[in-house]
Amino acid sequence: NKKIILADKSGFCFGVKRAVDITVDQKKSADAKLYTLGPLIHNNDVIHRLKEKGIDQIDEDDLETLEPKDTIIIRSHGVTLNVIGNIEKSGSKMVNATCPFVTKIQKIAEKYHDLGYQIIIVGDENHPEVVGINGWCNNSAIITKDGSNLSDLPAKVCVVAQTTERLFNFEKVVDIVSKKCEEVLTFNTICSATKERQESADEVSKQVDLMIVIGGKHSSNSKKLFDICRTNCENTIFIENSLELPTEAFDKEDVKTIGITAGASTPDWIIQDVIEKIK
Ligand code: F3S
Repeated sequence: NKKIILADKSGFCFGVKRAVDITVDQKKSADAKLYTLGPLIHNNDVIHRLKEKGIDQIDEDDLETLEPKDTIIIRSHGVTLNVIGNIEKSGSKMVNATCPFVTKIQKIAEKYHDLGYQIIIVGDENHPEVVGINGWCNNSAIITKDGSNLSDLPAKVCVVAQTTERLFNFEKVVDIVSKKCEEVLTFNTICSATKERQESADEVSKQVDLMIVIGGKHSSNSKKLFDICRTNCENTIFIENSLELPTEAFDKEDVKTIGITAGASTPDWIIQDVIEKIK
């Protein structure tokens, strides 16, 4: 009789849940071939289920192979204006499942770029969300992680953040540009879902003998949760689903309390599956 504590903020965030729901709904209402532009979320089990339902992936480079009868879904990270243009050219139906919080950043980038501001994005230059946002200001944004690459800035700048960025980095960049530029507009566009999951994982991992983080191998927010839990509980493991549960980890006498958290791209059914298997 071991105790299991599930972090109250864990699993799908609002934007990812919305994107998955939109995709599944589309499949119900259309016989058309359905594609997601890139993997819908960073979770192999979900991708596998979608595939079984006949929902495939397509890459940006292959957009010209789309046919007018096809439907294409834009995932929660969003895309550049250019990609939207390419989809429109193909004549196929576009369903935009970009998270509304990301859309908001795209609109800020577009508006202030048009008003003559240099857009600065605090985030990871290779992340699809950042690549997408940059595409709304003519790919002219300066992308920075910590402000170290910011020299020769124009007088007017507008700073936004990748939704999953750490507040510390955003504040650091704002501080640097405030000293260098005459006019600085800042929009703290960090999404609270990330912070809430991290705080919740932090709290639970302090109380347990074994901490389990469930997430896709390529999910950066899940890896971050793992790092946080690991600092509180040495006995922290990272798994993708219940199949990866090492049963010997529970057999130990001294494991009395088990904590569980999951990244924003982990669906409820995987979390429940893990809990069931532990029980
Ligand atoms: Fe949207 Fe925040 Fe999730 S920006 S996709 S709700 S982490």
